[in-house]
Amino acid sequence: MLEILILAAGEGKRMNSSRPKVLQPVGGRAMISHLLDSALALGPDRVRIVVGAGAEQVRAALPGFDGEFVIQSERLGTGHAAQQALPQIDAQARVLILPGDMPLIRAQTLKSLLASPADLALLSFVADDPTGYGRILRDENGQVTAIREQRDASEAERAVREVNSGVMCARAGDWRTWLERVRPDNAQGEYYLTDCIGLAVADGRSVEAVVATDADELLGANDRRQLAGLEQVYQNRARGELLDAGVTLPDPDSVHIRGRVVCERDVVIDRGAILEGEVHLGEGAIVGPGCIVRDSTLAAGTRVEPYCVLEGVRTTGACSVGPFARLRPGTELAEGVKIGNFVEVKKARFEPGAKASHLSYVGDAVVGERANLGAGTITCNYDGVNKHLTDIGAEAFIGSNTALVAPVKIGERATIGAGSVIGRDAPADRLSLTRAPQRTIEGWQRPRRKD
Ligand code: UD1
Ligand code: CA
Repeated sequence: MLEILILAAGEGKRMNSSRPKVLQPVGGRAMISHLLDSALALGPDRVRIVVGAGAEQVRAALPGFDGEFVIQSERLGTGHAAQQALPQIDAQARVLILPGDMPLIRAQTLKSLLASPADLALLSFVADDPTGYGRILRDENGQVTAIREQRDASEAERAVREVNSGVMCARAGDWRTWLERVRPDNAQGEYYLTDCIGLAVADGRSVEAVVATDADELLGANDRRQLAGLEQVYQNRARGELLDAGVTLPDPDSVHIRGRVVCERDVVIDRGAILEGEVHLGEGAIVGPGCIVRDSTLAAGTRVEPYCVLEGVRTTGACSVGPFARLRPGTELAEGVKIGNFVEVKKARFEPGAKASHLSYVGDAVVGERANLGAGTITCNYDGVNKHLTDIGAEAFIGSNTALVAPVKIGERATIGAGSVIGRDAPADRLSLTRAPQRTIEGWQRPRRKD
């Protein structure tokens, strides 16, 4: 039986933030969400999360979580936090304890710890800079004897670079007997989970520190500097996965991944692009420099030219967007569609081959096959209270600077004269226009300055 206990009650004073530490984002998702993914991949019987500071916020951030939340009402240390959950757990169950602020750990690494036969197994790593971490103390035979926290360590102990990741595993019954004996007699006046190591050794139990090969996975984030460091590691990892999937990144370091991004091969993501939320890019799709693509699915062959902002967009065939276009939620573009520069689209479907090449607003609309919207076409979709639909038929031609006052329907192959304000349905195959006749004033002269 495997139970997982995530310690997430700390407020994270060192972050200097109003949100609980475990909700600080890495790659656009809360640290604890990443950790939970790895924890669940082990197929545990149950996951419990110890919450305290900002408990409601943590709960709200994990809507799909079907384990248990355990409240630690006072922050008396990691040992005290674990103690809040242990009484509910079967004595024989193995309990894997994870600190909530280590988002980069992989399931595989957790498995390597679970493979240890020791009564108390923990993951350690060799840190370039061990500051802030508990140091692993070993005797002359290399056996672990204790963990010493930074603030309680002597100068010699501080020089040790092998540190505690905070990930530990033992049976629930054992954790309980050790934790009952932990005292807050240390620099921080807290009940340290890490004191269990010394107690287990004193009881003659087997203790093993499994040294992780990839130290980056075990980095924790107590402050913004460490969080920024984790972000860098995460981004490098995410970019590496894209490269492995056959994506071209002309300037990998400039691309940011903040969510779950799936790319088919031969996708190109150019310099300075940011991908957020759930993004799917089909084979050969191109995301130009400086683009932001959020929660969107782009079909194979979609080209997004430089500096576009896309959110909630779906393309169903090869089409072209931008440069400088803004596509808002509910935009759907079919094969051969062209959305040009300075065009804003919201909740609108463009059927195959439809075009809005320049300077338009298209909202709450359907644009039929091969219809062409001239520069400056505006759907007036909002009457101040309600939104209305503009329905443009196949092969319609809308002259430049036309206002389409919704609800309104433009027939198939209709032509609308430039500069019109169209408030009534325009019939198929006809020219409709509203335009004041042009006049020329005979004998008119420009006023002249007297001097
Ligand atoms: C802890 C370890 C240290 C280890 C480091 C790894 C202890 C005493 N020290 O130090 O050996 O090297 O993690 O990153 O365990 N928490 C609670 N309730 C509390 C206190 C903390 O739930 O009363 C939670 C925090 O939310 C956090 C986790 O426990 O997610 C670890 O606490 P933190 O304060 O970050 O411990 P460190 O000082 O980093
Ligand atoms: Ca920490």
